[in-house]
Amino acid sequence: MADFTHNNRKAWEQAFDKRSVDFDRETIELLKHEPASLFSPALREMLHRLGAKGGALAQFCCNNGRETLAALSFGFDRAAGYDIARNMIESATRMAESLTLPATFEACDLLTLKPGHGAPFDVGLLTVGALCWFKDLNPVFKNIAACLKDGATLVIEDMHPACNMLVETDDPLYNLEHPAKMVHDYFKTSPWLSNDGMGYMTDDAYVSHTFESYSHTWSSLINGLVDAGFVIKRIEENTVDQSNLFSHLDNQGIPLTYLLEARLRR
Ligand SMILES: C[S@@+](CC[C@H](N)C(=O)[O-])C[C@H]1O[C@@H](n2cnc3c(N)ncnc32)[C@H](O)[C@@H]1O
Repeated sequence: MADFTHNNRKAWEQAFDKRSVDFDRETIELLKHEPASLFSPALREMLHRLGAKGGALAQFCCNNGRETLAALSFGFDRAAGYDIARNMIESATRMAESLTLPATFEACDLLTLKPGHGAPFDVGLLTVGALCWFKDLNPVFKNIAACLKDGATLVIEDMHPACNMLVETDDPLYNLEHPAKMVHDYFKTSPWLSNDGMGYMTDDAYVSHTFESYSHTWSSLINGLVDAGFVIKRIEENTVDQSNLFSHLDNQGIPLTYLLEARLRR
């Protein structure tokens, strides 16, 4: 396992151990009553179209499995979720059982993922904040492709690469008068290091194990997909943040999120 993956596993497992009671409660409530609300309107529309054909969906970097389980509400026959954090996978498995949903979960590193039980899949899904944990996207897309059927669809919704240059509000470099100033190097290859925990899961601030993430450019994303055998069918860009990092810049003409649909052609 790569050093950064080892560090990230420790940091994500710690964050999940420290999750608030509300994080679990809200997950269960949304899954029971409004599963589709876990997705952006654009992703909802895409899953609606793809799920209408049934088939099997796999989510990579699935966290506690809430999106994997919610995706079943669009008509897929079964779903599988993969994540490095073992405690998240245990929790996701328990949740699928208690809600009697046809989903399985497996703790694994996407960098060493091999087609396993349940593969090949008709649809692969990566949502916001899944790809930044990898230094190089090439092996990630190749491993995902190996788990999909020929002709399968890969859906990615993530932060727009333009966000590589923006500054978060709690960053010392943030400038209230110029909140959209391009500060960081778009081509940054060194890791982003953080010991600030994962605020969206926990109530209290804490000094966490180190999260190590990476920026990716449009070209590394598109070239990685093409080299793994994917044909890009469509890309949509929009100005609404889905990461909770740049919502102060919503609807100001800055691309914050993209939604990409690709087809696997071996
Ligand atoms: C922000 S979540 C993305 C999913 C979704 N948007 C969410 O918030 O639930 C990122 C996930 O990636 C997982 N992850 C990080 N590195 C990984 C790796 N090498 N293999 C598999 N999963 C990994 C983390 O454990 C975490 O649950």
